[in-house]
Amino acid sequence: MMKDVGFIGWRGIVGSVLLKRMVKKKDFNSINVIFFTTSQCGKIIPFSIKNKCKILQDAYNIEILSSLDIIISCQGSEYTEKMYSKLRSIGWNGYWIDASSYLRSFKKSVIVLDPINLNFIKKKIDMGIKTFVGGNCTVSLMLMALGGLFKNNLIEWLFVSTYQAASGAGSSFMKELLLQMKFISKKLNFKNHSLSILDIEKNISKNIKNSDFPKKYFSVPLAGSLIPWIDKKVCNGQTKEEWKGQFETNKILNTKKIIPIDGVCVRIGTLRSHSQSFTIKLKQNLSLNNIKNIIQSNNKWVKVISNNMDDTINNLTPVAVNGKLDIPIGRIKKLNIDKNCFSAFSVGDQLLWGAAEPLRRMLKLLINY
Ligand code: HSE
Repeated sequence: MMKDVGFIGWRGIVGSVLLKRMVKKKDFNSINVIFFTTSQCGKIIPFSIKNKCKILQDAYNIEILSSLDIIISCQGSEYTEKMYSKLRSIGWNGYWIDASSYLRSFKKSVIVLDPINLNFIKKKIDMGIKTFVGGNCTVSLMLMALGGLFKNNLIEWLFVSTYQAASGAGSSFMKELLLQMKFISKKLNFKNHSLSILDIEKNISKNIKNSDFPKKYFSVPLAGSLIPWIDKKVCNGQTKEEWKGQFETNKILNTKKIIPIDGVCVRIGTLRSHSQSFTIKLKQNLSLNNIKNIIQSNNKWVKVISNNMDDTINNLTPVAVNGKLDIPIGRIKKLNIDKNCFSAFSVGDQLLWGAAEPLRRMLKLLINY
């Protein structure tokens, strides 16, 4: 019998990428999907998908939700916080798959990234675990890039500097970034040849500080600038985004001894791919060739990029990666600092491996299990 699967949050940025991927991979052929809504209950689903129920159901209707085998939610932490415990408290024992961070720190949840932790996921399914959560985007993308080194237990510690796209903050932030770019371009005046580039820069820098500069969501300019702070403050001066690096990585890998990870997370003016610069200390002095082979052989999406200008600027950028599942990693070089240290730089689509794809694959795993 086909499983009944409830899909909540399909209209949002992660949900719509997930929906598109599921259509492309024909995942809807093997489930009976019911689409839920928090605001348009009773309306017809606005796309054609082979399913029995054509009407949008109320995402707060416990009776319908509790009749489902699997719920997949991209609705966000607030919804999960409200509905997950309600359903569990009335004894609902179905599978909950979630994109938001709310359940990641629950003892009885598994953070899923199957190219990295498939065996752990399967073990937990066999143990009766029913709650599976996608990881933070930078964590998932970092593990997809460096999985081979983690798998071989080679990493002593890892420091990461991130360059995170606006999409990680949400669709309103993406739109605001574009509005900021538009605002700046409107102020450009290349026709007036008496203006030097420094005059133009002065004018733009002044205008960026105007009260009519669009910054309702970011609070400050992102276009023409950057924001070295993501999410709220936690202890030790870290932001929550930085805290997730060590916590989530070690949870995904189910490490016995914590691998120390820290970093500085920065929002930059790109649209949907996150970039990360790594400083890695290995437990031993491996040759660069060894390091590259270990990285390359971990999964079919990671692609080692040669450390030269042409390959780097053409293949190791957000523009090269947007909309793709590829995880290029380059700038791999030994550091003067220590013979066991090397650097690497990786880029990944924040909405694919960073969000939707691990959830889609988890759903598939449960359907076929
Ligand atoms: N917290 C991430 C960001 C989103 O702000 O970019 C992906 O988990």
